[in-house]
Amino acid sequence: MNKFINIAKKSIFNITPYVPGKPIEEVEREYKIKNIIKLASNENPLGPSKLAINAMKKKLKDVNLYPDSSVYYLRNALSKYLKIPENMLMFGNGSNEIEQLIAEAFVNPGEEVLFSELSFVVYPIVTENVSGKAVIVPHRNFRHDIDGFIDRLSNKTKLVFLCNPNNPTGTIITKNEFKKFMSAVNSRTIVVLDEAYFEYARCKDYPDGIRYLKEYPNLIVLRTFSKIYGLAGLRIGYGIADKDIVNLIDRVRPPFNVNLLAQIAAVAALKDKTHMKNTIGINNAGKKFLYAAGIRFQQHLYRPLFNAVRKTPCFFEGHGKPVHVKTRVFFFCRFHKFPDIFRFQYEKQVYRIPRFRPAEKSKEFIHN
Ligand SMILES: Cc1ncc(COP(=O)(O)O)c(C=O)c1O
Repeated sequence: MNKFINIAKKSIFNITPYVPGKPIEEVEREYKIKNIIKLASNENPLGPSKLAINAMKKKLKDVNLYPDSSVYYLRNALSKYLKIPENMLMFGNGSNEIEQLIAEAFVNPGEEVLFSELSFVVYPIVTENVSGKAVIVPHRNFRHDIDGFIDRLSNKTKLVFLCNPNNPTGTIITKNEFKKFMSAVNSRTIVVLDEAYFEYARCKDYPDGIRYLKEYPNLIVLRTFSKIYGLAGLRIGYGIADKDIVNLIDRVRPPFNVNLLAQIAAVAALKDKTHMKNTIGINNAGKKFLYAAGIRFQQHLYRPLFNAVRKTPCFFEGHGKPVHVKTRVFFFCRFHKFPDIFRFQYEKQVYRIPRFRPAEKSKEFIHN
């Protein structure tokens, strides 16, 4: 029993803490396997850009100094890169922190926060953290059900999280669906379009959130340096929104929230077109393999869609619980042939997954 339970805020007991995956070394020991690749957090399998590493090396001697709280150089570089005024940009210790700051700035206790079932695990956490009421919209065929979102809008809805492409299912909200939702939602409701995987989206129906900011001033677009730029360990993400929204978020933002090395690395990584191209290339190769393997319809077991599979054996993870893919799968993989059944071991239970056949493809299943 926790000694401080009686003096803690009641609302924190509604929060289910985020369960991180075990460190790779731990899983190797537990399962007696080697060369594990962890797919759970969608980290970049190629590592960070060399330009970012070199820029950080030069700056290491300055870590006795606080970082620039205004994120001057990165703000300037991103403003040019995105063709967005500097005062429409905000930065966080990962885009995760910006999600938290948005909830702090806008959601009063009891106000409703809408998000999809099977979406990013942090949305319920930031909602409960400010004593908001989570309204979870059931997924439809692993996709955000936009009509379901519209049906659940009320005069208490303060914040909506749309994850596009969605983690963990990899599906997208199309341009038409997005516009339909934005036309239905009250301008007093803040809509966060979480585009952590923006750069990976290939489908031409995919809406680029930045293009809609003028039309919908209540929209906030979030992106990150954690995924395609391979800088997850540095914790740096950014948001783009109306300058008045940025101003409000700035009031709840802790000073110096983006560290010195992260700012330097992000400026350098933005310039590294080759690293980005290679990352997209390896991701597409991984997707091709996984789709062919029939894993596509088994979203509840893992979330491997944004990483390439390069070595064997492979370690999948579903909501913080380890899944070890039996080496047998990769025997076939190495020879570019696929078995009719895959076996997955998940928490001591072995699952058999039939191979994906194109004829089974659902028209409703729009993947990025
Ligand atoms: C959909 C989505 N949004 C946001 C994040 C947070 O990214 P970060 O805080 O590293 O920028 C993640 C990370 O897994 C994610 O999957």
